Amino acid sequence: MAVPGAAALPLLLLLSGAAAGCGYQSCPPTRPDMLNVHLVPHTHDDVGWLKTVDQYYYGVRNQEQHAGVQYILDSVVAQLAAHPARRFVYAEVAFLARWWQQQDTATRRLVTELVQQGRLEFVGGGWCMSDEATAHYGAALEQLGLGRRLLRRLFGACGTPRVAWQIDPFGHARDLAATFAQVGYDGLFLGRVDHQDKRARLQRRELELLWRGSTSLEPPRADIFTGILPNMYNPPTGLCWDQLCSDPPVVDGDGPERNVDAVVTSFLQAAHSQAQQYRTNHILMTMGSDFHYENAHLWFKNLDKLIVHTNARQANGSRVHALYSTPSCYLRELHRANLTWPLKTDDFFPYSDGPHQFWTGYFSSRPALKGYERLSSGFLQVCSQLEALAGPSVRGGPYGPGDSSVLREAVAVAQHHDAVAGTERQHVANDYARQLARGWDSCQVLVANALSLLGGTKAPFEFCNGLNVSVCPLSETSPHFTVILYNPLAWPVAWPVRLPVKGSSYAVSDPQGRPVASQVVPVSGVTQRLRGGAGGAPGELLFQARAPPLGFSTFEVKQVSPGGPREPPRWSSGDLEPWIENEHLRVLFDPVTGHLREIQNLARGFSLPVFQSFYWYNASTGDGQSPQASGAYIFRPNGSTPFPVAERAATHLLKTAVVQELHQNFSAWCSQVLRLRPGQPYLELEWTLGPIPVADELGKEVISRFQTPLRTAGRFYTDSNGRQVLERRRDYRPTWNLSQSEPVAGNYYPVNTRIFIKDQKVQLTVLTDRSQGGSSVLDGSLELMVHRRLLRDDGRGLAEALDEPGQDGRGLVVRGRHLVLLEPAAAAADLHRPRAQEMVTPPYLVLAPGPGPHLREFSGLRRALPPNLHVLSVEPRGAGTLLLRLEHLFERGESRNGSQPVTVDLTTLFSAFTITSVREMALGGDVPLDSVSRLLWNTPTGIPKPRPVPPLDPRSVRLEPMEIRTFLASVQY
Ligand SMILES: *[C@@H]1O[C@H](CO)[C@@H](O)[C@H](O)[C@H]1NC(C)=O
Ligand SMILES: *[C@@H]1O[C@H](CO)[C@@H](O)[C@H](O)[C@H]1NC(C)=O
Ligand SMILES: *[C@@H]1O[C@H](CO)[C@@H](O)[C@H](O)[C@H]1NC(C)=O
Ligand SMILES: [Zn+2]
Repeated sequence: MAVPGAAALPLLLLLSGAAAGCGYQSCPPTRPDMLNVHLVPHTHDDVGWLKTVDQYYYGVRNQEQHAGVQYILDSVVAQLAAHPARRFVYAEVAFLARWWQQQDTATRRLVTELVQQGRLEFVGGGWCMSDEATAHYGAALEQLGLGRRLLRRLFGACGTPRVAWQIDPFGHARDLAATFAQVGYDGLFLGRVDHQDKRARLQRRELELLWRGSTSLEPPRADIFTGILPNMYNPPTGLCWDQLCSDPPVVDGDGPERNVDAVVTSFLQAAHSQAQQYRTNHILMTMGSDFHYENAHLWFKNLDKLIVHTNARQANGSRVHALYSTPSCYLRELHRANLTWPLKTDDFFPYSDGPHQFWTGYFSSRPALKGYERLSSGFLQVCSQLEALAGPSVRGGPYGPGDSSVLREAVAVAQHHDAVAGTERQHVANDYARQLARGWDSCQVLVANALSLLGGTKAPFEFCNGLNVSVCPLSETSPHFTVILYNPLAWPVAWPVRLPVKGSSYAVSDPQGRPVASQVVPVSGVTQRLRGGAGGAPGELLFQARAPPLGFSTFEVKQVSPGGPREPPRWSSGDLEPWIENEHLRVLFDPVTGHLREIQNLARGFSLPVFQSFYWYNASTGDGQSPQASGAYIFRPNGSTPFPVAERAATHLLKTAVVQELHQNFSAWCSQVLRLRPGQPYLELEWTLGPIPVADELGKEVISRFQTPLRTAGRFYTDSNGRQVLERRRDYRPTWNLSQSEPVAGNYYPVNTRIFIKDQKVQLTVLTDRSQGGSSVLDGSLELMVHRRLLRDDGRGLAEALDEPGQDGRGLVVRGRHLVLLEPAAAAADLHRPRAQEMVTPPYLVLAPGPGPHLREFSGLRRALPPNLHVLSVEPRGAGTLLLRLEHLFERGESRNGSQPVTVDLTTLFSAFTITSVREMALGGDVPLDSVSRLLWNTPTGIPKPRPVPPLDPRSVRLEPMEIRTFLASVQY
């Protein structure tokens, strides 16, 4: 089979003076007897922040921020071509991809030469520089793969970056470190780490280390050399020569402005003091910053002079050698030094740049965008799977052209560290949502084509994007329609369907024509207000649908009787204690206050008092200790005790055969529904919040807090990028002696999918439907920040308060879900692992009028996979080729059964196509696994050596805990 990406490149003429080859072969000579200063020209080009991606690319709105990426790339290429010794590194492929499309052949050839000679080097090389706290590992990996694939297609092996470059994200995640290692990077460079951590590391000379990204994978698979840059990603003071800077240029000659001697002296001082903090006779200086090099001549001309004049001093005994270099050339020198590096196993959260400056607010900022991003990356998997399962003709099927690429790029852009992070300006957030919506349009065409091809119908499919607020034109108006449920998971799911309807009863039948229990319940007052004028159905039809793995089932719905829903039984205060139950759980509420009071696990025979309510922290606007205000980045409450939104909730109960619900109304802007359905071993909490009132001029940060009597000794657990789980301890950091100055904000951690507390026996887990900040501020409690509305900027460059206007300008309303799981601690992972996956890639509903497709049920798999195995990627890659990723969902030692290795036969797994040949790839999917050779590093416990890659037998693919295996498969339909 032909593996894409390995195309032969034309022979290129070497420019005189340039090194031969790229990568480590192209590194400039260094001086073993001197301090070598690696000057790394770079630009940091945010894929949206104060301006949209388009505005940054073209240089629109320059009065707000002067930045035009097209000019940066034009200018850098010309300046590199002018002088062979000059180097430049570039990171953000989203911009490069646009620029490349607009270049003529001669420019493309020139750029290719620069890359082949290592003069232009890619670092990071993802579509963007992804956020680390709020990005889910699946989406983060997709965006990395998307960028790297393009680089490889354009430039071959020389385009493949050797170092990961996360110079601006606000804290760093362990799972992402493991990802970088497995994608094949040799090193990772970071700009921001906590100021206390940095000071301690600087004293111990531990700014460079080996980061072990996983406790499940055998070292060195998830190990990555990690360097913390000295000056974030900026140049040393006084040496900034961009048009955006105001330092004086290097003035040589004899005139009165001559300053070259002073500049060189100050440079040498900076070099010597930096060298004190690092271990070898090599140091790296980042010569660039945000959107620098638009007029690259300024930077390069001054750097040329700095290098010449610095090195001229060697004749007078100076022992400093300055050179143009790149992060990978610097890394190679560190490797050659053959030192033993400290080992790190925890992560870099939370990040603070001062005692009252914890960057833990962005874990929750812009909850609607975070929700839409999560929903979109789940839908991307649906789109991509159907694109693969239905075969190539699906892109031009009966509903027109559609494919997954628009959504893939939009989701990739949304991973940027000012996108899903919620730290962009409002108009930029709107633009990210616009890009995602365009992606949905194209994918919905593709889904229609796929269902038509697979199901044999030309029905006018309908996609109900407004189901979260109970809006769906087809179900509202039609007495006869079909619901198609597509399941992107590799095991069968039972899924609650909830559709707005006009009638009072319906007959629902499953794919085999058998009746399915259903019920019409009234649309809640909260939902009616929320949907505004968008829909008018009085009721919601509820039933449980099932769908097979990687496949769909159809459910036919016929109205039996018209008229609105019948009034459900109501409970009002004064009655007996209200409760809801199913076969797994019974949930009790306080009859006076309406709060959740106790959860009983009926199957396991134990119970736990659990109190839950909503509170708000009053956002600081600065105080006597510090002028720091809470903002989009920073969380700073002005007190440790949050205020309850309400002391009690008005409640009503709804008990039917298909669902039991308790509705809580805390206030006009805060309500919640607690739900149990037959068969579901968890409690669902659907919260609706907003507009947060700010007429009192107080910024508010709203949390949902759960309180239990569990003795948790300051410990709680949060996930890393939705995958690994890390233990957190209140007022504690594993690698330095913490001086805690923000008892709430300084204990917040990112939660992508789950947070839990436990004692010896019992574990209470909360799963989220989007990224949020979370903590356990008091023993036995856990909390998640669900919404924030702030009136001040926090002084990190955004210059805008996080005060989202929402649909009508009165303030954002958000609705989301938490799933609460109460299990014996030893068995908890068996439940939360697969459930969390269902939250990330939920089934997708499509509607059609009348009876719908002929084929009532379809599965892309021949058999379901066990609950510890997930099909992470099924993605078309050119003619007859698919990228496949299989993933073990459990960590080592987490579950007696779940953590066992699993073996699958890849050749007989899929029913939609036959795999004719398969090649194993590194995690990014862009390079064959057996071609990856990474630098090995000494640790205090020796040099871990990778196991040789065994020959692949696709009939027997074994996955160890936390392992993801990536394949490029040739297939026939
Ligand atoms: C080297 O030292 C001599 C004598 O002090 C001085 O004249 C000359 O400028 C120095 N050269 C450099 C490059 O500093
Ligand atoms: C690197 O250091 C180790 C001891 O830490 C030594 O055994 C080994 O020979 C050294 N390798 C080289 C290439 O110097
Ligand atoms: C409902 O979902 C849409 C995206 O499909 C999102 O834009 C909107 O904010 C959600 N509404 C609420 C109230 O959460
Ligand atoms: Zn940035």
